Amino acid sequence: MNYVLLGPPGSGKGTQAKKIVEKFDLVYLSTGDMLREAKKSNEYINKLVSTGQLIPDEAVVGLVKKHLKKNDIKKGFVFDGFPRTIWQAENLDLLLEFENIKIDSVFFIDLCFEKAVKRMIGRRICVMCGTNYHTVELPSKKSGKCDLCYNELIQRSDDKEDIARNRLVVYESQTKPLIEYYKKSNLLTYIDGSRSEEEVFELIDIWIKNKKS
Ligand code: AP5
Ligand code: MG
Repeated sequence: MNYVLLGPPGSGKGTQAKKIVEKFDLVYLSTGDMLREAKKSNEYINKLVSTGQLIPDEAVVGLVKKHLKKNDIKKGFVFDGFPRTIWQAENLDLLLEFENIKIDSVFFIDLCFEKAVKRMIGRRICVMCGTNYHTVELPSKKSGKCDLCYNELIQRSDDKEDIARNRLVVYESQTKPLIEYYKKSNLLTYIDGSRSEEEVFELIDIWIKNKKS
């Protein structure tokens, strides 16, 4: 089982990817997480991520290759936030062809611009365990504290409203063309991202189970 999660920032890719990985015991590959780690020691990446711009294709593909080597992707994987440009998608195809691996589906989690902005600006993350909250949709029991480990909740630097809006503009111009790309190869599965977290997961889960049977 090999899946790609595609969709605007804030649509719920990370939330759903983690659920799929947990339920089906797959490898989780998030280029956003890889780059948030890389930016700690790389000022150039820090500047791009913090302002909501994409990191150059070659650098991202290089990072992905490194992570693919570290993980046993033959057991199945979920890509979250990769590929994000046509060039990245073509290079992923080449990489997978070389390994004789096929993508089963690209789940396109769709969400309109303004709802995506609200999701991003309300998101809070635990500094310690990384658990996701939302100030309106999924608040923690005690304001600013994680329900699980009681550590502080923070806002991602690129979730400030102006940067969040910029990320959506970047998505529209550079990532949205992938919808056509994957439609042409019959891999695209449309998912309505405006539904609740549980409903979105149910749609994905049903698709996966139907495909397996
Ligand atoms: P990345 O980390 O991939 O961010 P993103 O694509 O902008 O997406 P987000 O993580 O903001 O949103 P999400 O879709 O994961 O939503 P989530 O589940 O968290 O990338 C960050 C940056 O890294 C990029 O801007 C770029 O600079 C760089 N980068 C990454 N990949 C790259 C690549 N391939 N090439 C070049 N550069 C790259 O949900 C959001 C919020 O909504 C949460 O609070 C959650 O609790 C809530 N929520 C989720 N689902 C629901 C629901 N159904 N109902 C109500 N609330 C919900
Ligand atoms: Mg994410």
